[in-house]
Amino acid sequence: MKIAVFSAQSYDRSSFNESNLAFQHELSFFEERLNAATARLAEGYDAACCFVNDDAHGTVLELLSKAGVRLLLLRCAGFNNVELKVAAEHNMTVMRVPAYSPHAVAEHAVALLLSLNRNIHRAWSRVREGDFRLQGLLGFDLFEKTIGVVGTGQIGQCVAKIFLGFGCRVLAYDPFPNAELQSLGVDYVELPQLLGESRVITLHCPLVKETHHLINAETLKLLRPDCILVNTGRGALVEAVALIEALKHQKIGGVALDVYEEEASLFFRDHSDFAIPDDVFARLLTFPNVLITGHQGFFTKEALANIADTTLRNAASFETGNPDSKCLVRAT
Ligand code: NAI
Repeated sequence: MKIAVFSAQSYDRSSFNESNLAFQHELSFFEERLNAATARLAEGYDAACCFVNDDAHGTVLELLSKAGVRLLLLRCAGFNNVELKVAAEHNMTVMRVPAYSPHAVAEHAVALLLSLNRNIHRAWSRVREGDFRLQGLLGFDLFEKTIGVVGTGQIGQCVAKIFLGFGCRVLAYDPFPNAELQSLGVDYVELPQLLGESRVITLHCPLVKETHHLINAETLKLLRPDCILVNTGRGALVEAVALIEALKHQKIGGVALDVYEEEASLFFRDHSDFAIPDDVFARLLTFPNVLITGHQGFFTKEALANIADTTLRNAASFETGNPDSKCLVRAT
């Protein structure tokens, strides 16, 4: 199958080329993000392969369909960037990678929390400058603290188990409680209780209408002033402007983000020679108790290999007329 791979970075080329030895698809890599201006690059391809910040809304899907694309291969789990109704109208199949390594994202969420709480990032730069003072680096024990996990699917489950291992009390909120976690001692509670009681809140629910700006000016009022919020889900789960107000007025203890609502124009590119045009993002960077990574939760060797394998297998299964139902994404 001829596949146009958008937003292709060097590591995507490596993992896809290696995995493709077993599939022998015809791959073309484009650095460009998929959008209305770049969709024509897919002219003559059977499939377009895209990532989290590619734009697969109405016009783009129409253009892809006109270009001959019949299959949209998402090399990620989330599909909030795809207008599924329009894909269906154009008879375009959409497939994703439902689980490539929940551990990768879970471990990154915990790494962010540990770094922020113990100020590892600040200590690293101080020590390099020969400054060994400890002022400003004070953290707290996680042992016996209450951790709130919002969304206990593949990733949230791993996170909950890691924190149980740390000796924490774990609260969870999910419309579909997980019996295994309950048997391990996780307490499912309503969202306001989780927000009010947790010393750490970590978001692992999908971005859908109901979860858009789940953390906003109103819900932020429920948080303890020493609460650390970790978001490795999707940027728009959190209203960034409201978060800045809470940070400015010390209504929140710290924030660790791997995702940001307007990340599409920033992340996965080098902007170091230019001023950041996004004032909200730039303001977030000024707080000593904010730690941000650029959507790297998925970025482990194991996850990249699994993403490439599943994506190319999805293309092969589509070609044989028997697409893997676990990977199909349909409009509801
Ligand atoms: P999943 O589908 O296995 O789990 C999502 C869970 O959220 C489910 O248990 C579902 O019942 C629950 N949920 C749905 N609506 C909810 C609500 N309103 N409130 C609370 N929980 C709700 O998904 P998975 O694999 O665990 O991924 C979670 C999210 O993590 C993805 O949707 C994606 O946005 C994000 N992600 C981020 C990555 C990164 O690199 N930072 C990489 C992969 C995923």
